Amino acid sequence: MQIQTNFSLKKYNTFNIEAKAKQFVAVHSEEELKIVLKNHSSDKKFILGGGSNMLLTQDIDALVIHVDLKGKKVIQQDDNFVWIESMAGENWHELVLFTINQDFGGLENMSLIPGNVGTTPVQNIGAYGTEIKDTFVSCNAINIATQEVKTFTKAECNFGYRESIFKHEAKDQYVITSVLFKLTKRNHKINSSYGDITKELENKNVKTPTLKDISNAVIAIRQSKLPDPKELGNSGSFFKNPIISKSDFDKIHVLHPAMPHYVLSETTVKVPAGWLIEQAGFKGKRFGDAGIHKNQALVLVNYGNATGQEILNVSKDIQATVLREFGIAIEAEVNVI
Ligand code: EPU
Repeated sequence: MQIQTNFSLKKYNTFNIEAKAKQFVAVHSEEELKIVLKNHSSDKKFILGGGSNMLLTQDIDALVIHVDLKGKKVIQQDDNFVWIESMAGENWHELVLFTINQDFGGLENMSLIPGNVGTTPVQNIGAYGTEIKDTFVSCNAINIATQEVKTFTKAECNFGYRESIFKHEAKDQYVITSVLFKLTKRNHKINSSYGDITKELENKNVKTPTLKDISNAVIAIRQSKLPDPKELGNSGSFFKNPIISKSDFDKIHVLHPAMPHYVLSETTVKVPAGWLIEQAGFKGKRFGDAGIHKNQALVLVNYGNATGQEILNVSKDIQATVLREFGIAIEAEVNVI
């Protein structure tokens, strides 16, 4: 365990932004993590997982602790279900493939989401009709101040749309070290109802999809719409889809009848931010090395040497324009540092 100083984080964030950590250490076990936390109890600390949901707009004047805990295994099973525990530093998509290859069901709709397992509960990641909360049992986390291990049950995590306790009451207090999932061994709940998946399966003439078919369909859809962070720096959806009141929606809908929307309850409606941003004229636009992806307006991209500040400025311009044109405030999903 070696502490490095003035360390470049370019390879540790999927936006590929050049920013420096004052100090940097990678920890490979819970023991190492506890030692670092204890030895640096009075230093400012910043916990870094897969770096797939953050925009670095400045150097980090703190000890950056990169959680690199590895391991994934079956810890229990019965005839119908299997409990899989994954350490926080495992790559999410590799975990998904690990489960699909053993015909364990539940994670397949979330194939190819970038990032590491440890950060998935923080924002309750989701895609194509499934969220992590659907299979999540619990997670273990280490209290940064006391180094005690705490198990958070699903109920304690308080999951919502891209929300959890780790963005609120528990923010900056814990390091998630492992996550436990309960997956199906048979009678899989195949979820192919999301429009794009249905279309993709029809195109391939798949009538009774397996877990692998669903995963492959999701991979194909994502590859056609979303840039691969290895080729083009990005952080997935930069904004959340806004949830607005039914009365506001009714007024806006009269002016924009083509606006796609999902009724969530009698009083709330969700509107796709990607559509709003596209209508506002930003899709595919480029401002220096910062831009808006050509196939998915929700995704901001770094064409090479954009700074975090430049990407942040583009995001603010988008927010202001969408607010002016539609009267809808859109909020960043990505953590702006
Ligand atoms: N749309 C546009 N223009 C665009 C993008 C989208 O008009 O540039 C419209 C689409 O035509 C569609 C609607 O917006 O009517 C929704 O689009 P899509 O199904 O592609 O999903 P999304 O709302 O843009 C969300 C998640 C994605 C997830 C997909 C699929 C959020 C913030 N994003 O995107 O998650 O992959 O659904 O489930 O909820 C991520 O969080 O990083 C992410 C990629």
